[in-house]
Amino acid sequence: MTIAKAQSPIPTAARVHRFTYAIRNIVSEALKVEAAGTRVRYLNIGDPIAFGFKTPAHLITAVERAMRDGHNNYGPSAGIPVAREAVAAEYTKNGFPISADRVFITAGTSEGIELTLGAVVESGGEVLVPMPTYPLYTAVLAKLDAHAKYYRLDASRGWMPDLDHLKSLVTPATRALVIIDPNNPTGAVYPTETRRALLNFADQHGLLILTDEVYGDLGFDGPIAPYGLLDPDAPIISFSSLSKAYLAPGWRTGWMACGRSPRLDDVVAAVKKLADGRLCSTVPMQYAIAGALTGDRSHQPLFRTELKARADLTVNRLRAMPGVSCVAPTAAFYAMPKIALPPGRTDEHYVKALLHATGVLCVYGSGFGLPAEEGFLRIVFLAPLDELNEIYDLMAGFTAQYLQ
Ligand SMILES: Cc1ncc(COP(=O)(O)O)c(C=O)c1O
Repeated sequence: MTIAKAQSPIPTAARVHRFTYAIRNIVSEALKVEAAGTRVRYLNIGDPIAFGFKTPAHLITAVERAMRDGHNNYGPSAGIPVAREAVAAEYTKNGFPISADRVFITAGTSEGIELTLGAVVESGGEVLVPMPTYPLYTAVLAKLDAHAKYYRLDASRGWMPDLDHLKSLVTPATRALVIIDPNNPTGAVYPTETRRALLNFADQHGLLILTDEVYGDLGFDGPIAPYGLLDPDAPIISFSSLSKAYLAPGWRTGWMACGRSPRLDDVVAAVKKLADGRLCSTVPMQYAIAGALTGDRSHQPLFRTELKARADLTVNRLRAMPGVSCVAPTAAFYAMPKIALPPGRTDEHYVKALLHATGVLCVYGSGFGLPAEEGFLRIVFLAPLDELNEIYDLMAGFTAQYLQ
């Protein structure tokens, strides 16, 4: 071995360069601002715990008990039966009949998405992904050497999917349609006719339907039914978790539910094979799932009310800023305002300038796949109302100067 070779950096795989995740990448910039002495307001990541919301006590008790009772072993790769049964019963109750043997307990929604895309998409394959998107989809597809084909969500129509654009993107390589509803980053919920149109489109083209329903319990007016209710025989796989509506994101505990369509049988077997390879998801946390889905959920209506108040404040304050527009979210804890940028400026330039000037950290719309010159950014509005007011004061002052 030559000295030069011994001293050169160990090379990394090209796929890493294609893998981007703006929600966390932007934090390195914030740390610099913090090191320089400015207080940073982290509005980049959708974590209710970071803003003072509490995990329901009975879920913590269930996990604690599981650990004390010795459930610290590896579990079945698809999940413990009691958790799989609870997930199946929850979907079935909500109109999407699911049998427990078609449920997988996963390390959050994230792992379910990764297992499924890994099970169905070949290198070079294409998946229809909304734009803006939750960036995990594009990041996982990049890792698989597959392609995200972005279908537009239209801000001028309340962030509804542009179905004509969607139809224009299908090719023989298209494998699946990703639907995020309720949506991150826009906070939109699609009406039934839009949901039906998406399912019909997927049916016409024989596509697998991946429904990310992790915010399903966080509609401001109440829980949102799963897509499978509209067509229980469609090849739908639904993803959700304890992270958002059950206030336990750090537990990395979620699930995927595969519909009864026989067209999914091979996918279920393929996911099982991949799941075997990672042994199991965290076992003690799985013991909280049945309690979460069948026990006391009284935190949810309170949480929804808190979210609605924050959404109203956010929209009112943003719309009052000259040069800023914002579609009102109807679920979850995100808003996606648009800044009327001067020509030549980008969303990232605005977001970084805002951060450096005020310490307010948001994520630029291009981190979710939007064109940078369109001037969108995502705000997580989980902070208490008085803090949000301070944040919007800072943002208003900065934006007035920036757009001068
Ligand atoms: C739309 C969407 N899907 C999936 C996830 C990942 O969530 P989990 O913690 O369940 O992996 C998030 C997290 O923000 C999300 O917003």
